[in-house]
Amino acid sequence: MDRVKTGIVGMDEMLNGGIPMRRHVAIYGGPGAGKTSFCFEYLYRGAKAGENGVYVSLEETTDDLIENMASTFPMFTDIKELIKSKKLEIVKPDKLELESVADLIEDRIAENDVKRAVIDSATMIRMAFAKEVEYRQTLFEFLSLLRNLDCTTLTTVEATTAKKEEMHFDIEHFVMDGIINLYNLDREERRIRALEIFKMRGTDHSRDLVPFKVTPQGLKVYVGEKVF
Ligand SMILES: Nc1ncnc2c1ncn2[C@@H]1O[C@H](COP(=O)(O)OP(=O)(O)O)[C@@H](O)[C@H]1O
Ligand SMILES: [Mg+2]
Repeated sequence: MDRVKTGIVGMDEMLNGGIPMRRHVAIYGGPGAGKTSFCFEYLYRGAKAGENGVYVSLEETTDDLIENMASTFPMFTDIKELIKSKKLEIVKPDKLELESVADLIEDRIAENDVKRAVIDSATMIRMAFAKEVEYRQTLFEFLSLLRNLDCTTLTTVEATTAKKEEMHFDIEHFVMDGIINLYNLDREERRIRALEIFKMRGTDHSRDLVPFKVTPQGLKVYVGEKVF
């Protein structure tokens, strides 16, 4: 099976080599869990390895996103150049619609041979729906549309809580091909970042809850270590 390497330290090992190609994976977690950083690094590593990526930013302006990522990852010194050479594209569509996002991604694949896409976040789109059932239907259609495209997509989903114990299953857990949960765990006076691959259709994967860190060089996932 063809796989896309996230390039994130430890992550591909957990995924038995990477994300199955052309799948749609949700990056799920509460505010500040590290979703945007995870997704940005996925595109950054791709761009460096010759795979063009598009970041569809629905929450932050493109300038804010670039500024935040440059400060989170000071060792990613070539972000601006990657953007200039279109290996990394950051776009903010003016409509909060899955159809427009799908059109946009399709367009970038045709125009710029984009292989990796990020949608940040699905929650922005979900909020535009009055009824959950309508969102579910639209998300379903969106995913089947994207499945025909030669592109591997990460979509962030905002959990209503950062606490692992309070997490519940959202619509996205049922319809997406894969789910990676990011947590900000309370440990007495400390907070610990941890993640787990909750599901990944089409591949075996680690089921461990493992610690990770956001470092200036990128995320580090500590495979084989325990969260305590
Ligand atoms: N330079 C940094 N070093 C370590 N952690 C950082 C740095 N910059 C940002 N962070 C952490 O990353 C978190 C934001 O992550 P982000 O990817 O934006 O989360 P989310 O998208 O899930 O809200 C912040 O809460 C902060 O704790
Ligand atoms: Mg974010």
